[in-house]
Amino acid sequence: MKDKTKLVHMARNHAEAETQAVNPPVIRASTVLYRDTDTLKSIRTRREGNERVFSYGARGTPTTFALEDAITEIEQGVRTMLFPSGLAAIAHVFLSVLKPGDHCLLSESIYGPARAIAVRFLRPRGIDCEFYPGGHEEVAKRLRPETRLVYVEIPGSIIYDLQDLPAIAALLKDRENTLLAADNTWGAPGLYCPIALGADISIVAVTKYIAGHSDLVMGSVTANARAAEQLAYDAGLLGQTVSPDDAYAALRGLRTASARIAMHCEHAKEVIRWLEEQPQVERVLYPPLPSHPGHEIWKRDFTGANGLLSVAFKPHIKQDDVDHMADRLKLFGLGASWGGYESLAMVYPEGGIPGWKGGALIRLHIGLEDPADLIADLQQAFAGLPTK
Ligand SMILES: Cc1ncc(COP(=O)(O)O)c(C=O)c1O
Repeated sequence: MKDKTKLVHMARNHAEAETQAVNPPVIRASTVLYRDTDTLKSIRTRREGNERVFSYGARGTPTTFALEDAITEIEQGVRTMLFPSGLAAIAHVFLSVLKPGDHCLLSESIYGPARAIAVRFLRPRGIDCEFYPGGHEEVAKRLRPETRLVYVEIPGSIIYDLQDLPAIAALLKDRENTLLAADNTWGAPGLYCPIALGADISIVAVTKYIAGHSDLVMGSVTANARAAEQLAYDAGLLGQTVSPDDAYAALRGLRTASARIAMHCEHAKEVIRWLEEQPQVERVLYPPLPSHPGHEIWKRDFTGANGLLSVAFKPHIKQDDVDHMADRLKLFGLGASWGGYESLAMVYPEGGIPGWKGGALIRLHIGLEDPADLIADLQQAFAGLPTK
């Protein structure tokens, strides 16, 4: 099945009932009742063997299992675990895989709070976290016998730099103790499949395009056969769980994600056409643009793009000017996150974006509004920018 078909059909109720609802129901539960003690013992044994069973609300419900199954299918892993946020999903991978004395390589442009976990939590606990610039050549130079995890985000946050994931996977091919994890939030669902390209673990902030409506926070970790056992066991051990209502909403978002993302992408293209004509704009950072560094990798490894981009301004425009411009925007909300149906703008402190050596910048999420209205909004806000 193609991804679009999968998004519609996967993890649905296929029981042979005479009639049935299209969607899996919301099943809320803490306590789960067992028929008798034999059943209890058998389920306990299965759970201890790391099998996913409906045994207690915190261990998941049929509703959360349906979302896990859907994400497992689209991410092409063997098992998915859900977490109360994308950041908690990232933290779980670090906690489960790394121990004191290990070395972890991380690409430099990862999501800021993920970087903060490495710097403020892992390093003080004796885990050597090293950030690398560039791509797989830099990974090759830095691998050590004690490197346990290579952690990448492709494309990177805010600047969308691309890395050759299959080349990194090839470097790790004969290293039994090194796992490769990718934050696939930009490419999910269905634009990019890190596990198919050689990663062991794919992490997604479900909060973004899967949920799609800016109304819930959730993360997922999907693993291949090599990594799933430990990650799933530890997620249960550490009490990681999500609410069935949120899982239901995320599953609903997932069904329409490909249609929304295609529209976000179409609208982004129109807005970019306008942005590229503006004298204040140095360049637009967006992987589908042939001028974007690493564009060839995007063309080879991705099936499409979404509505997230950044605009880099000419040197005479300072970050303060851009901040004031952002304040003039009316249709674009000023807010963190992205992947919802609405347009957003976000600014960052000057010099505060790892991997970015250019000037003032703004990140835009292009929503489902009519692009003509979005362009008109940008036009009135750009009008106050200095011309020289
Ligand atoms: C690339 C990326 N990964 C992970 C996250 C974290 O997701 P959450 O906000 O659900 O914690 C974000 C959030 O902005 C993100 O942009």
